[in-house]
Amino acid sequence: LFRISDFGFRIFIVMRIVDLIHAKRHGRPAAAGDIRRLVEDYTSGKIPDYQVAAWLMAVCFRGLDDAELAALTDAMMRSGEVFDLSKIDGVKADKHSTGGVGDKVSLVLAPLAAACGLRVPMISGRGLGHTGGTLDKLESIPGFNVNLSGAQFRRQLARLGVAMIGQTDRFVPADKKMYALRDVTATVESIPLIAASIMSKKLAEGCEALVLDVKVGNGAFMADRRRATDLARTMIAIGRRMGRRVAALLTDMNQPTGRAIGNANEVIEAIECLKGGGPDDLRRVTLALTERMLTLGGLAGTRVAAAALIRRALDSGAALELFRKTIEAQGGDPRVIDDTRRLRLAPKDGVVLAPRAGWLSNIQTRQVGIAAAILGAGRQTTDDRIDCGVGLWYESRLGEKLEKGQSIFRARYRKAAAWAEAERLLAAALTLTEERTPPPRLILGTIDE
Ligand code: URA
Repeated sequence: LFRISDFGFRIFIVMRIVDLIHAKRHGRPAAAGDIRRLVEDYTSGKIPDYQVAAWLMAVCFRGLDDAELAALTDAMMRSGEVFDLSKIDGVKADKHSTGGVGDKVSLVLAPLAAACGLRVPMISGRGLGHTGGTLDKLESIPGFNVNLSGAQFRRQLARLGVAMIGQTDRFVPADKKMYALRDVTATVESIPLIAASIMSKKLAEGCEALVLDVKVGNGAFMADRRRATDLARTMIAIGRRMGRRVAALLTDMNQPTGRAIGNANEVIEAIECLKGGGPDDLRRVTLALTERMLTLGGLAGTRVAAAALIRRALDSGAALELFRKTIEAQGGDPRVIDDTRRLRLAPKDGVVLAPRAGWLSNIQTRQVGIAAAILGAGRQTTDDRIDCGVGLWYESRLGEKLEKGQSIFRARYRKAAAWAEAERLLAAALTLTEERTPPPRLILGTIDE
């Protein structure tokens, strides 16, 4: 009897998912209940990878309508623990970047926004492929623990105003499973799938206000502005439907953000920024996003008022101090703030020089991210281990005149063979021209509710 009912149950599930795949292949929308069941049954292991992969591929070609997208996001969000932060005073606000190369904005922005009075419950991801991840960067600080329990996370958020942790198995497990599947089935670059993946995590995290940093360019998931705008609008609409305040900035990813690309070296650059220095583009993007978080969260009525709050938090050292306390609270060595040599870099030095004089008019940013990953700063598969001490420094900017033999990239590496491969990629990633090409604008626009 047991086997018969078990068999009957399986047939029922197989039929349903086959019907869903078939309907989506022909562009017919699914009912919200069917999408919810697909997510639940996939998360619990009742539906195999190959059927969900087929459905995801159909979604890549056919898209999802608003109701399907809302159902998918909601089901993913509810697939695990959903944080209730209502007992913690203050406005809970976060920022999310769609991913890029050298993007260490979160390391500066989280303590900065908290020092301005927001509560920042930040749940970040790891790097994969050519993009870096905030968690890997934080873990290059000796002892830093990104695996806090829900209770520890809430306690730290109430006490310090900021906590920076990673996704656990209990937090949006549907996304964890689906993202891994998308990564190996060429189904990452779909606007509804990216939007549901990002927003399910941000909604489960419990933030009331969210600023999205949607990267545009050859180092981003969205190479052109039109698709990036579509993605931003899609995510804003999901957030509004769920009663959250959401805005997006479109920012350039046609070259790395700042100079450092790696892990420990990116933390050093973030600390410089919190001390009032650091590269100009990193500061500008971080400040623009923090300003928008403050106005969206209602802590400042205008951008000018927000900028004044930010200036005070930086000039007084409050933001830097909060980063020190965050490191300490999460088990890390807070002495890295005053002595960044404690963030150990790899022993060998490399350099890529300009082969001739010319204007730097293009750089294949994705290739730069891949070169850093080849050195060991990133992963090719989710199981790879990161080498926190290796990395690159991008020493030029688009639109600059370079002399023959001028340094374009510096590197710290451990393995000569990896450096030889990375060096070849970096040299091929650059275009020098006789004529100057104007550099891209850093902040392309804001998309509001
Ligand atoms: N980041 C995410 O969290 N999900 C995606 O699908 C793409 C980028």
